[in-house]
Amino acid sequence: MDQQNQPAAVQEKQQVVFSAIQPSGSITLGNYIGALRNFSGFEDAKARLYCVADLHSLTVRQDPALLRKRSLSLAALYIACGLDPKENIIYCQSHVPCHTELSWILNCFTYMGELNRMTQFKDKSAKHADNINAGLFTYPVLMASDILLYQTTTVPVGIDQKQHVEICRDIAQRFNGIYGEVFTLPEPYIRKTSAKIQSLSEPTKKMSKSDPEESFVSVFDTPDAIRRKIRRAVTDSENEIRYDPENKPGVSNLLTICSALENKPVEEVAAGFAGLGYGALKDAAAEAIIKEFTPIQEKYNALLQNKDELSAILQENASRAQALAMKTLRKVYKKVGLLQL
Ligand code: TYM
Repeated sequence: MDQQNQPAAVQEKQQVVFSAIQPSGSITLGNYIGALRNFSGFEDAKARLYCVADLHSLTVRQDPALLRKRSLSLAALYIACGLDPKENIIYCQSHVPCHTELSWILNCFTYMGELNRMTQFKDKSAKHADNINAGLFTYPVLMASDILLYQTTTVPVGIDQKQHVEICRDIAQRFNGIYGEVFTLPEPYIRKTSAKIQSLSEPTKKMSKSDPEESFVSVFDTPDAIRRKIRRAVTDSENEIRYDPENKPGVSNLLTICSALENKPVEEVAAGFAGLGYGALKDAAAEAIIKEFTPIQEKYNALLQNKDELSAILQENASRAQALAMKTLRKVYKKVGLLQL
């Protein structure tokens, strides 16, 4: 396996897996390969929770109707990707008030200096210079609360979230240092070779759902759109296919995509294109994406036919999450000295 930081000390039966995605735009191929795809495969874990991080999305202005639509859509996508809502807990962050409640407490155990060092805060402040709000600054504290509420051991994420999991560990360690072993220390679960998918138009930058349409493939794109976007992906002026992210970021990104979707080492994928041109690589990448997304889209479309049923699933799953979260929150309230009635 090519995962990093696999929590070797954790017995599978004791594993609690937690991750979340923001419903703030179209879910991209980057989100899929870096995170969503890796949410499956923890069948022996004690608990698996996958959250729609709607509260996190509010750090950037959202259209309210669109946010509601995207939240339901992301929940349906989780299920369409194979996460059974009976075996996994699939829910919206705002439906479980414990997240924001713990977040307030943890804000009081997090230093401004620590938050100031977060690269996502710096990036987002630069991108949204007219709206550098306090939520953007304390974002990692809410994320730490998401994770720590469930005594999470394992957090499957892309590499860009590693720093946030590290600050979460720092906050937990600080709290435990004062009050005893209240929180489990989580480990990020990051697949080395596919932890970062790059933008199609600027392959030295991360593929991001908040960038222009042509720079990413969405999980919901039609086959024609996928072919068109991949065909236009920026490469370089040579005609040699080799994996070299520094000197050939565009070609290496396409190779990474093929490698991840075909479950083959990237060098093996590159070797398969010996003597062929960039057109062949692009065709192969596009077809691999279409093959992966077509069954997911079919299942997703079927699920969205019955929004009432989806809402009922979310409600039931939120109650299950809340029951687990309350155990930790009660303990925290007691430890810090809040009056219990
Ligand atoms: P978000 O919504 O930006 O991204 C969701 C997940 O997708 C991964 N990802 C990528 N992986 C590879 N290549 C890319 N180009 C790429 N773009 C995004 C991200 O690393 C992430 O795993 N803060 C989180 C959401 C969150 C969360 C949490 C995650 C809230 N609470 C608790 C884990 C645990 C975020 O903004 O993800």
